[in-house]
Order: sequence, then structure tokens, then C-alpha cells
Amino acid sequence: MEAIIRPDQDSAAHLVARIIAKELRAHPSLVLGLATGRTMEAVYRVLVQMHQQERLDFSLCRTFNLDEYVGLAPTDPRSYRYYMNRRLFSHVNIDKRNTHLPDGTATDLDAECCQYEEKMRRCGGIDLQLLGIGAAGHIGFNEPLSALRSRTRVKALSPATVEQNAAFFGGAANVPRRAITMGVGTILEGRRCILLATGEKKAGVIAKAVEGPITAMISATALQLHTRCTVVLDEAAASQLKAADYYRWIFENEPEWEEFRQSPNRDY
Ligand code: F6R
Repeated sequence: MEAIIRPDQDSAAHLVARIIAKELRAHPSLVLGLATGRTMEAVYRVLVQMHQQERLDFSLCRTFNLDEYVGLAPTDPRSYRYYMNRRLFSHVNIDKRNTHLPDGTATDLDAECCQYEEKMRRCGGIDLQLLGIGAAGHIGFNEPLSALRSRTRVKALSPATVEQNAAFFGGAANVPRRAITMGVGTILEGRRCILLATGEKKAGVIAKAVEGPITAMISATALQLHTRCTVVLDEAAASQLKAADYYRWIFENEPEWEEFRQSPNRDY
């Protein structure tokens, strides 16, 4: 795992978008694992701008989202399918038939989970998995005690997650209690993982996820087992990391990051 610290939320989101764009240009039929949530909104905004201003091409790209609420139809504005269409898919030249989310309205949810895994396999697996982190440390909806080898399945949302998402549903009482989510094991099979976290509220959980012991209580700690995982943070989210100076040195000095050190001279 490596941690990259950028001065603020905007530059952290830009960095993530530029990493995705670089991979997409190198591999136009990239299989991209996507996340939703507030943190990702800035990343999708930059990707849309890159498409409009630099012709970043999504025409061959395939995508698989991490999760979807059980019971919400794709047309429901609170569903993750709706979020993805609104924030990214409807604004770039992606073929929507190549965009996949679990179907939270399937009559047989277990079969839907198996089929979702099968679809990923048929596409050759995830090349680049984008991740956020929940207030209690989940990736996807892998709530506390999620097995570190878990696969796509239905998971009951923890009280912390229900609370985190209450605003989108007009109160905690209206938040669906279950979701389909890729498992921790599924996520770890992605060839590259990028976790983005911004803001002071994430500082405590990021310190645990990056520098703490691996535990099923905090599914993000499992990323320490991944051979190519980058955690991109702003200063606020990095504020409780013990080795922050070392992580800053890496971004400023390692050749891999050289092209990303020059900030692009653009208005987004
Ligand atoms: C969403 C997802 C979640 C979020 C996480 C952070 O698809 O998988 O793990 O990434 O809950 O959400 P925000 O960015 O809203 O803090």
C-alpha cells in the first residue's frame, strides 16, 4: 500500500481522475470498478471535463460498481444506478450496456450476486478499482465483521452506515437496511485499487485503515494485503497518520509520480 497526500480535496480528486485517465488512455477497454458517495462526485466531475475538453474516450470502457441498495429500482433517484448515470455515464461516450451495477430489485438476490461475479469474470476481472471509505471503515458495503475473503452478497447495513447516508433518504428511518456489495475478496482481486478519502471526518478511520492492524472490523484494512493499492488523501484526511512525512516524500520524489507532480494548467 502507498499513501499519497495532496494539499486539499480538489487536488486529491484531480489526482485520482488523472490516474484513471492515464489507465484508460493506455487500455481503452479498461474494466473499471466504480464507487458512489460524496467523495467520488469531484472525481466524476473531472472525468466529465476531461471527456469534454480532452476527448477522454470511454467508448470501449466497461464498468462494475461496488454496490446497490436492495429494493431500489434504477429509476429511483436514490439508487446508485441513478447516481452513476447522473454524475458520469450520461455525460461521457460510454456505452451504457457496458456499465454494470447489481440489481437491487432482483427477485432472487443470491442468484443476482453470483451472476454479478460471473459477469466480472467474463470481462476478465477488474483492472482498476476505485474505492471510498465509510465513517466506520467499510469499503463497498463491507460492514464490520465482513469476511476478508467475502464475495458479492447481500449485506445488512450497520447503524453507522445508515446514519452516514440518512441525509439522502430524508432520515435514517428511510434508509434501506440491506445492500448488494462486492465482497472484500472480490475487491482484492482487482489488479489495482485506488482509495480516495478527503476531509477531517475521515482522518481517524484512515489512520486505522492505513497504519492499523488488519481486522474484519474495518474492511479497508484488508487493502494492506493488496500488492498495488494507492490511498489518495487530502491533508485533512491524512492528519492522524504517523508517517505522513514519509508518504509526502514519496509523492515528491518517486519517478512514478513525476508526471502527476506538475499540476495541469487547466481550469478544472
Ligand atoms: C459507495 C461505497 C461506499 C462509499 C463510502 C464513502 O459505492 O461503496 O463504501 O465509498 O461510504 O462514502 P462518502 O464518500 O459519501 O463518504
